[in-house]
Amino acid sequence: MSALSIAVALVAASVAPASLAPTSAEYTVADAAPSADHAAAATSAAVAPLVQDTAADAPDVAALAALLDARCASCHAPGADEPKALKKWAAARDLVATAADPELVVPGDPDESELFLSVDFDDMPPPESDVEPLSDDEKALIAAWIRAGATVPEAQRPAEGEAAPAKAGARTSSIGVWIARWHPLVVHFPIGLLVAAFVAELLRRARPAWRTEHAATFCFALGALATVPAAGLGWWLAEHTAHDAEALDLHRWLGVGLAVASIVAWGIAAKKPNSRLALLALLAALVSAAGHTGGVLTYGADWLALPF
Ligand code: HEC
Repeated sequence: MSALSIAVALVAASVAPASLAPTSAEYTVADAAPSADHAAAATSAAVAPLVQDTAADAPDVAALAALLDARCASCHAPGADEPKALKKWAAARDLVATAADPELVVPGDPDESELFLSVDFDDMPPPESDVEPLSDDEKALIAAWIRAGATVPEAQRPAEGEAAPAKAGARTSSIGVWIARWHPLVVHFPIGLLVAAFVAELLRRARPAWRTEHAATFCFALGALATVPAAGLGWWLAEHTAHDAEALDLHRWLGVGLAVASIVAWGIAAKKPNSRLALLALLAALVSAAGHTGGVLTYGADWLALPF
């Protein structure tokens, strides 16, 4: 946002409070009076009530942001130690992201918006928490914002430079979380090594002259070992990130299952070398499934959808 637009917003605010919400669906003074005639009539008694009404209806977005920050952000913003709350809503300090989440806000319809319903029924803030419940006026403010279209005037959006450090601070909140973030990097070892072991074992049978048996053994051993830190870091990371609970559970148990299966498979293959191809085929399938569900977590369910 430029200094100019801030200046314009400030000037507008000092002239008429309603101008603070130029993006509100109901703020239609400009639309209603586009012609010079109407502009000239702006001081007349006929137009004055229109300005009054919109001033009363325009939600005070700055007050709303302060409210959510004070009463919700302790559990619903990055850095909060509330995995369950974060899974549902992690943007109490980001009105733009909150408004864009269809699970929380249905613009124009507070009674379909979980953000409003949760406070209206006094489910939120949780009654057992230390956070004071919302007054009727505060609930009405949330409802008014949603009813007016859940828009966020430019003046209320954080400037680029402001938002970044806050996020960066939350990102490196602890050394444990930092280590857990290596999960996406470490997982490539079991993926690559177990698939390579399977291919080497296949070749060992199909093309004995290529002498890939040692490669198969080597990749199998290293790949099976690498599943342990990969699953461990993943488990840890899951405690500290907000994801769709179902998709996360699936990925988590495939990952843990893969780690257990590869160690067991390694033990079986050591005793029964003939079972190695079948075991490696199973592990390659499992590691692909775990990898894919991990991709779904990061990039969304349609990340491998065909481009047509
Ligand atoms: C003390 C912590 C805490 C505070 C403060 C808090 N919440 Fe929550 N909130 C939670 C937890 C925990 C959950 C997850 C509940 C669950 O999944 O069972 C949650 C869930 C939600 C949900 C999702 C409900 C659902 O079932 O999908 C909404 C919406 C919500 N909170 C809104 C708010 C709003 C709005 C505020 C501030 C006015 C707020 N919360 C303050 C802890 C908190």
